[in-house]
Order: sequence, then C-alpha cells, then structure tokens
Amino acid sequence: MTTSFTYESAASAGSAEAIVRLISPTDLKDQTAQWVQPQIDIALRACHAKGLFKGEQEQAEIIATLGLHSANHIIFVGIGNAVGLAGLRLAGATAAKALKRIKAQTVQLQVPQEVIDGGNGYSAEQASQALTEGLKLAIYDRLPELRNEKQRYEISKLSFVLAGGGAEPSGYAEKWNAGIARGELFAEGVKAARDLTNLAGNRLTPEGLAAYAENMAREYDFDIEVIDEWTAAEQGMGGLLGVGQGSANPPRMIVLHYKGAPDDNETWGLIGKGITFDTGGISLKKAAGMEEMISDMGGAAAVIGALRIVGEIKPAVNIVAVIPTAENMPSDRAFKPGDIITMMNGLKVEVVNTDAEGRLVLGDGLTTAIRRGATKLVDVATLTGAVLSALGIEATGAVTNDESLMEQVKQASEKSGERVWQLPAYPEYKKQLTSDAADLKNSGGRYAGTITGGLFVGAFAEELPWVHLDIAGTAFLDRSRSWEPKGATGVMVRTLAELVTGE
Ligand code: BES
Ligand code: MN
Ligand code: ZN
Repeated sequence: MTTSFTYESAASAGSAEAIVRLISPTDLKDQTAQWVQPQIDIALRACHAKGLFKGEQEQAEIIATLGLHSANHIIFVGIGNAVGLAGLRLAGATAAKALKRIKAQTVQLQVPQEVIDGGNGYSAEQASQALTEGLKLAIYDRLPELRNEKQRYEISKLSFVLAGGGAEPSGYAEKWNAGIARGELFAEGVKAARDLTNLAGNRLTPEGLAAYAENMAREYDFDIEVIDEWTAAEQGMGGLLGVGQGSANPPRMIVLHYKGAPDDNETWGLIGKGITFDTGGISLKKAAGMEEMISDMGGAAAVIGALRIVGEIKPAVNIVAVIPTAENMPSDRAFKPGDIITMMNGLKVEVVNTDAEGRLVLGDGLTTAIRRGATKLVDVATLTGAVLSALGIEATGAVTNDESLMEQVKQASEKSGERVWQLPAYPEYKKQLTSDAADLKNSGGRYAGTITGGLFVGAFAEELPWVHLDIAGTAFLDRSRSWEPKGATGVMVRTLAELVTGE
C-alpha cells in the first residue's frame, strides 16, 4: 500500500476517517477553548476532570463520534507542556498506535500552531520531520514470515493541518512538505534496517547480505565491491577470515562507495558489524536467548539503512561504507581460543575468546575503509553485552579518540532522538588488552567490557578521528516502546543519516 503524507490548509482539507488533535495539559485547563466539536469537547473535558486524560506525553484518548462529526473517531494525543522535537516524535508515535487500534486509513492530524513555531528551538521542517518519523516508525510491525507484507497496517492518506483553522504563515506548506518528505525517507531507511535485522540466521547469510547490498547499490548507483574469502585472503584480512572460517557460509567484506563531493578531501568511513549469527564459536554462548543473535548484524543494517537515505537525498559528501560480514560458528575448522591471527594491518591478535568476534571483523573493516580513502570513521556494532550492564537499553554506548567528531555524532543523535552516551577512553584501559603472545588479545576481561571492546576496534583507526557506537543494548528489544517495536529497532540509521547529511 502506498501512503501519502501531505500538508493541507485547514480550509481545503477534506474529510477523513479519523482526526488526531494534539493537545497539552495547559490547553485542557482552558475552560472556554473549543477543540473539535462541542459535544466531543465536553466528553474530553469529562475525561480530564476524572484524571483519565491529562494531555501528557504518550497519552491518547480515542472518542467515537457516533454521527456528531464527519470523522468516525477523534483521537486526542497528549503532548505534555514542554514540547521539543523528541516530544513531537513521541506524539507521532502515540497517534500511530491509537490509529492502529482503529485501523484508520485516512487521517487528518491537527497541530496547534504554537507547537510548531512557538519558539521551541526548532523549525517547521524539523517539527514535521519528527512527527512523520514518529508516525511511520511506530506503525512498523515485525511480521511473522507466513503473513503477507500486505497485511502490515498502513495509513493510506494523512494530512497535517493547522488546528483551529487559523491563517497560516506564507511558505508554510513548502516547509511542512519538505519535513514530511525527509521524515518519510528517514523512516524508510529505518524500516529497511529493521526488516534486515529481523531476518533469521538461515535466511540471511554473509553472501545474502552481500546480495542485498548489491541490489541496493544498483538501485542507488553506488559503486560496490564484494570481497570473497579468496580475495580477502590475498588482502590479508585475518580477522574476517578467522571469524568466518568455522562456518559453511563464507564471510564477505562489502564495500560501498558514494561520491557526492568529488572535490572534497574528506570521506566518511561508516563501518557496520555484520555477524549474521553469533553462536560464540568454540567459546559457545549459553542456549537461553541465543536466538537474539540474529541481530548481530544490526550495525551493518544501520549503515545500510543510512545509505538508503543517502541514496535518496544525495548529500554533497563522500562515503565509503564497509560491512565485514561472517557467521560465527563452532566446527572442526573453526578458530580456537589461543589462536593467533594476523590482521589486515599487520597487527597480531591472540584470540582468548572466540565470542569476542565483532572486534576482529571490525578491525579489518576499519583498515579496509582507510585503504579506500576514509578520513573519519564511525563504526556501529552490537559489540558487548557489557553495554547492557552500563547503560541498559536506554542508550547506545560510545567510545572515541576525537572529541570533535564525538560532538558531531552527539548533535546528530540529538536531532534523531536516539540517545548516545560517551564512555571514557582513558589510556589505562588499553592495558587490559596486552597479550603475552601477540600485539593484543581480543578480550580485556570482565571489567569495562564496552570500553576495552571499543578500544580494541580503535586500535585499527590509524590516528584518524574515530567514534565507536555499541548498540548491543539498543538494536533489539524484548518489548516495544515509544516509536520502537519489539525485535529490531533500526537504531542509529537516523543518527548516521543526520550526521552525514549534516543540516
Ligand atoms: N554479539 C555479542 C554481543 C551482544 C550481547 C550483542 C548481547 C547483543 C546482545 C558479542 O559478539 C559478544 O559475544 N561479546 C562478548 C565479548 C566478550 C567475550 C569479551 C560479550 O559481550 O560477552
Ligand atoms: Mn560474540
Ligand atoms: Zn557478536
């Protein structure tokens, strides 16, 4: 089903099955205000008087109109009193969940003017982008395979109108439509990443991920290299090959090139961990919850989703995106604890735990990005269970060697509403990675696992600015929340896209 979101002036807006009215606690206290229709307004006041609906964030009140209005339902969505972009995204998500309950196909979303340009520190474009993202992202469902894609609930037509029917400032429609378009592209990128991440291990192998990237490259006219195990051996990718060697499904190093600014010396290197399934290898994981390791390519999916957005927006930047992808399996030919691996950049690594495989494929991923011209690096990876101990599921953990690049990532994450929390990278932590047998060992032990894991990856940055994003806590959820579904979240797609499209 195709969806169309547009801005319409209140005067010309047609009828819709459902009307969504954003409303704040302050609005609700105004005894004389008129919102939608006298009797319906009275019903809402009654809800408010009983404390059932306070206009707070994530609250929605669905009222059937029973002939009092041309729409079948009016949905009041609380926005709280201090609205920011995150609040608008949340309001979009809250509206989407209510709309899903009544399966509304055509929708009119009434936005009070002060919400948009009441000096809240964001533009009309940003407001409409945030609302659109919230609506689209919250509608997503992980579909059981047997069901048809067509059964996904979608809104067929949604128009944003100014609540109250006041006159709109000139140029308003253009700004809104620009924000809507950007929000739709961003949501599509996230949806692609979620779908990819939700694929089972037997449905998505490293070769399958490479085929997916090839299709995407064709669609957007990116250059692509898919390096197979033989070429990887020629190029000395010991990390990628070591991790992949236990599986019948061979590893791949995927490299995508986007040149939007040929005269610019800067090139973003975006590297995403693409372990299509992580059993832990010989250092086997415990059985309980292991099925979640289908999401161990969530970093790769984030990079791919962001690249889809880049392919649509075509920003004036250069990007080399690298996805080292492998399946981490125990077998007679698998790599073993105690093995020593020579990485692509010549560093030798003592493998003390085959379950610390992400950093091995990422090390070669960083080297690959640098050899192909990257000048600043961002890697995204479901790297450590330790990030769950540190930050839970509320934030992505970050480690960096460059405060100014880190600042850019933080600003992008503020725009996207995807929380990123920087962890310290004191040089002392690196001592945990010293090995008696090689330059480094691949695990620094129990303490500060996210930091030492990150610093292992950073050892391959060759002094270039680098930020590491550990999404092990945020890429895959046990239950849905705000605009994120149960299962794959597609986290960091929008942060990466905001970062490289840098507006
Ligand atoms: N893919 C896992 C990390 C992970 C854990 C992702 C939980 C999502 C949810 C990673 O490869 C891993 O196994 N890391 C080890 C590292 C340790 C052996 C140093 C871990 O976190 O236990
Ligand atoms: Mn692992
Ligand atoms: Zn892993």
